[in-house]
Amino acid sequence: MEHIYPIFDSILSREKKQQLLKQQSMVVWMTGLSGSGKSTLARSLENNLYEMGFLTKLLDGDNLRSGINNNLGFSDEDRTENIRRAAEVSKLFAQAGVITICSLISPTIAIRSMAKEVIGEDLFFEVFINCPLEVCEERDVKGLYAKARSGEIKKFTGIDAPFEEPPTPSLEIRTDQYSVQDCQKQLLDSILPKITVD
Ligand code: ADX
Repeated sequence: MEHIYPIFDSILSREKKQQLLKQQSMVVWMTGLSGSGKSTLARSLENNLYEMGFLTKLLDGDNLRSGINNNLGFSDEDRTENIRRAAEVSKLFAQAGVITICSLISPTIAIRSMAKEVIGEDLFFEVFINCPLEVCEERDVKGLYAKARSGEIKKFTGIDAPFEEPPTPSLEIRTDQYSVQDCQKQLLDSILPKITVD
């Protein structure tokens, strides 16, 4: 890039900020269908960690799309840009020592692999919130599946736009098979050891 002079090397390090916050930062990247339970689990993880004294930032697809990403739709190109920005923002938070929880459909292997590349492999923790389409559609919390079936919404993930399951997620949570409390516990139990410093 022309006329750009990054100062990455002279910025106070992530390690120093982690020491200040007494925590190890990471990006918990939650992927899954709409209605699979991502936002619910992301919120409860954030609340649980707050109660335990950890500093977190929750980045939720719907929220980002009403702010920094409010000029983006659901074409392949816009979803890629949506995820690229979310990943760049996550990286900034994680570099500041903050435990960053992302809740975005991020529907394809390529899109998640781009996120991982932006954030860095060491910080990226992929959580597959796995719930069969039939169950998400049955729940239809936001009423969007009905609209997608009737054609009112186009390119809806799982209906007329793809969702590619992550083949090797860091963690998989089956929200159709366990209670909300059990799922919350599975998530918390796997994250805690990674962010705790002695
Ligand atoms: S992503 O595919 O680009 O990762 P993101 O997580 O930001 O999606 O946003 C998904 C949310 O947008 C859904 O939870 C839903 O509320 C809303 N939404 C609106 N239109 C669509 C669509 N066509 N496909 C999926 N989600 C949609």
